[in-house]
Amino acid sequence: MRKQIVAGNWKMNLNAAESQELIDALKAQTFNDGVHVAIATPYVHLAAAVDQTAGTSIDVAAQNMHQAASGAYTGEVSAAMLEGIGVKTVILGHSERRAYFHETDALLAEKVNAALENDMHVIFCFGEELEDRKSEAHFDLVTSQLTNGLFHLNASQWANITLAYEPVWAIGTGETASPAQAQEMHAHIRAVLAAKYDDALAQSVSVLYGGSVKPANAKEIFAQTDVDGGLIGGASLKAEDFAAIVNAF
Ligand code: 13P
Repeated sequence: MRKQIVAGNWKMNLNAAESQELIDALKAQTFNDGVHVAIATPYVHLAAAVDQTAGTSIDVAAQNMHQAASGAYTGEVSAAMLEGIGVKTVILGHSERRAYFHETDALLAEKVNAALENDMHVIFCFGEELEDRKSEAHFDLVTSQLTNGLFHLNASQWANITLAYEPVWAIGTGETASPAQAQEMHAHIRAVLAAKYDDALAQSVSVLYGGSVKPANAKEIFAQTDVDGGLIGGASLKAEDFAAIVNAF
């Protein structure tokens, strides 16, 4: 059975005290046992978050990393640095990184390689903009993001990849893809994986949905056959809401 995952992407929110407070509140919640829970904090809170979650089932993830091992890249953080403080998961390819920091598929392929070389797990994000959907280019766009970002990997490397389909028009907008739209795209993603690799691999990869997931709509989205969980932005900043989403499975 595929792993069910709910990951919170805190983005650039919360100061150190607020981060600590939210993690304390998360630790007081009861999470559905079968669901793998992760929180992606800003870099500066990662080490404290790793300490604070030690002995719990909450995994701490980074929101980004640089592709180089080390060197003159002012302001950047490498996979080895993350790994060295106990961070084992990294989100790569978020649409905000693609849009505001000009991250291309080719660059993301390099970042994926660097993460895997350091035995990290990758949550790889992709998804279409509203224009792509309006012009019915969304399936092709997603296919090309997967092809260019990930299809250089061999089959065994996919054990460390989780996919997160996040239609850009649904992020932070309150507009969610309908459960049917999410299912349709997730089935497409699995078909593309099966065509490139094989059906067993396609069936083994967890594919998360992201974009305005809230306690009120999580159950219906997670009930879709090919949806294995969610990447949660705004609602991950409130412990009760995040727990309600985890427990929507
Ligand atoms: P929202 O849940 O705030 O729409 O954000 C989704 C997202 O971008 C998660 O990575």
